[in-house]
Amino acid sequence: MASAPPRVRALEYRRGTLRVLDQRALPGRIVWRRLRRLSEVAEAIRTLTVRGAPAIGVAGAYGMLLAHREGMRDPGRAAGLLLATRPTAVDLSVGVEAVRSAWAAGEDLEAAAEAYRRRVVEECHRIGQVGAPLFADRPRVLTHCNAGALATVEWGTALAPLRVAHQQGRRLFVWVDETRPLLQGARLTAWELAREGIPHAVIADNAAGHFMRRGEVDAVIVGADRIARNGDFANKIGTYEKAVVAHENGIPVYVAAPWSTFDIGRADGREIPVEERRGEELSGPPSGRTVPRRSTIRNPAFDVTPARYVRGFVTPDGVVAPSRLAGRLARRATVQKSG
Ligand code: MRU
Repeated sequence: MASAPPRVRALEYRRGTLRVLDQRALPGRIVWRRLRRLSEVAEAIRTLTVRGAPAIGVAGAYGMLLAHREGMRDPGRAAGLLLATRPTAVDLSVGVEAVRSAWAAGEDLEAAAEAYRRRVVEECHRIGQVGAPLFADRPRVLTHCNAGALATVEWGTALAPLRVAHQQGRRLFVWVDETRPLLQGARLTAWELAREGIPHAVIADNAAGHFMRRGEVDAVIVGADRIARNGDFANKIGTYEKAVVAHENGIPVYVAAPWSTFDIGRADGREIPVEERRGEELSGPPSGRTVPRRSTIRNPAFDVTPARYVRGFVTPDGVVAPSRLAGRLARRATVQKSG
């Protein structure tokens, strides 16, 4: 059955301007920011104005295009400024590289950025079609963070199969972890689901185990920011705990991602860099602090979940078991090299 793209879109490029939906303002306000310079794109990625691994990859691709348009002559420097913003999501470097290599080869950069955006959107759509049948007899699905259209430009990764299943008329209910400290679940995932009429409930992060143990969760699906060759993967902080508790309760965990999120160069999770962000994201602004001034704060933005907790990776080309991932990535790399 055909499926219609979501009405939400994270960004769009037209005639020298990258417009991004400011995700910091959601769900209260719809604010579009116009970015015309590399530094503005880098700042938007750093501040999570635009966020989610595939979406920052696309923003990075357009950032390179804008750098060229504003007369920068050194693609390596432009790429370096973008890559310094967020270290965990490998998609950022894939998107930046797609345009950097076109720049080095003297090709049309707008066409390269546009092709990269199209590839991400198409792959996410395919993830939706591949993943929807997984939930035919597992209708109560828990997700963590936001891996929807906002995080990927259109469709989403974890949310794409749920969107497609809903459009196919399947019965579905989504448990949405609030996702401390920046509330990507409560603010963004719930916003996307509500706009499309997909039944859901927002829960405190620490309530997930409670509902799993009561038998009210049939499956977990999340996105990822980087997946190592052995299937260990980084995703929003708290994912590891959800996966362990799901495993303890016999609940399958699926990880949905486009090919840009798989990092064949990292053997396992120990090689994945984890971004640590400002303590103020936890304590709130100085005017309304919720943490004593003298307390130290640690704020890792991601954690790494071992592959043994994953039932399958929902890719654009099928569901891949962790034990088969390395072989699958090696075959893809060979085909790409010879093509
Ligand atoms: O810090 P964020 O909001 O960029 O983190 C995003 C996530 O962890 C997502 O789950 C991940 O990027 C997958 S998005 C399709």
